[in-house]
Amino acid sequence: MLSAGLRVNMGLYLLLVLSLCSCYKAIGEETTNVKPIQQRDDREFDCVDIYKQPAFDHPLLKNHKIQMSPSFSGNVLNNYYDTKIGKFSKIGLQDEDCPPGMVPIMKIKSRHLRNEYSHSRYNSKNFTNDNPSQQFATYHTTTNDRIFRGARAFISVENPSVELGQYSMAQIWVQKGQYNGLESIQAGWAVDPALYGDSHTRLTTYWTVDNFGNTGCFNSVCPGFVQVHPRLHPGLAFSNTSVFGGQQFITDISIAQDGLSGHWWLKVDHQNIGYWPKHIFTLLTNDARYFEFGGEVYRNVNKPCPPMGNGRFPSRELKETSFFTEMQYVTPVYSIRDIDPLPMAKYISYKGYDLKIWKNQGGDYHNFITYGGPGGKCGK
Ligand SMILES: *[C@@H]1O[C@H](CO)[C@@H](O)[C@H](O)[C@H]1NC(C)=O
Ligand SMILES: *[C@@H]1O[C@H](CO)[C@@H](O)[C@H](O)[C@H]1NC(C)=O
Repeated sequence: MLSAGLRVNMGLYLLLVLSLCSCYKAIGEETTNVKPIQQRDDREFDCVDIYKQPAFDHPLLKNHKIQMSPSFSGNVLNNYYDTKIGKFSKIGLQDEDCPPGMVPIMKIKSRHLRNEYSHSRYNSKNFTNDNPSQQFATYHTTTNDRIFRGARAFISVENPSVELGQYSMAQIWVQKGQYNGLESIQAGWAVDPALYGDSHTRLTTYWTVDNFGNTGCFNSVCPGFVQVHPRLHPGLAFSNTSVFGGQQFITDISIAQDGLSGHWWLKVDHQNIGYWPKHIFTLLTNDARYFEFGGEVYRNVNKPCPPMGNGRFPSRELKETSFFTEMQYVTPVYSIRDIDPLPMAKYISYKGYDLKIWKNQGGDYHNFITYGGPGGKCGK
């Protein structure tokens, strides 16, 4: 409880701040010294007024009220601990925070190249893949009648060798719907020269509401994802990637629905990056019905399938393989559980990749999957 005096003082203070604000705004409008965007050539991102970020060009996000942090930080996804399996690979190490009221938005290097990704046809109902350009090695829930509110994993951070016209990623999918009504949120790492103009391993997100038909995009390339963190944002490169037989690096990624707002929050290493508002979905508005962990690769028609994970077939030796561990999900009542008791299965779309499941391992970790492979002359 605040004392009466303090409350009066705070009232005065608020009044003062409010009047200052309106003065400031009036001055700002005349002299335009308040810029909605702060650009610098030496950075890969621009700092943008949080209320003028690309997300709000989405027609369903007019008058959107920004949620600055999730309501669940105290009770869900909070079992954060260091792990003996690997060191955390950091993002945004060299960068400063954007000024107050601004958020970082990655500059778009090659917008025209986005079109080639709009043909994904991953059929999440029967886990078939009718697009020979994309291949998968995933571990997925097997029913779509169970309610989930999110998924989380430690993902090993790798740097597979990928050319222009290919990408290779490892991620978490949280989904609902089927066929052309598939709604999907994805987050993990990707090496994607077309998207990023380099071969770094970068934090990469994706969403669609019509099975990658007319909607959907990476990071903040199209309106939808609301960035709130002043420094950490999709598109940032990871500081370190795993060394075969040596130091392993991991990242802790979760996609979880907020019980109050219904928005889907992205957390990386326990930091709130931003969220996909419930308003951009029709099905994920309420809940999710399945999730997946694993690798996805892409190649255009002239290329072979690229390496997935660290480019090797999976093994039990975590120093020599790509992996997901501490895989968890969020229940209908927003508590977090290990995935081990859930009915789950693996899906491998091409023999150039594989995935192995290790449950109830005890020791330093509960569960893990190892996955990956060299790729090769895939598809039709
Ligand atoms: C999976 O679903 C698609 C779309 O309905 C269908 O074309 C395909 O034949 C199905 N595959 C299997 C193996 O059932
Ligand atoms: C991680 O990478 C940075 C440079 O990006 C390097 O200075 C640091 O030594 C690396 N950490 C480890 C544990 O290898």
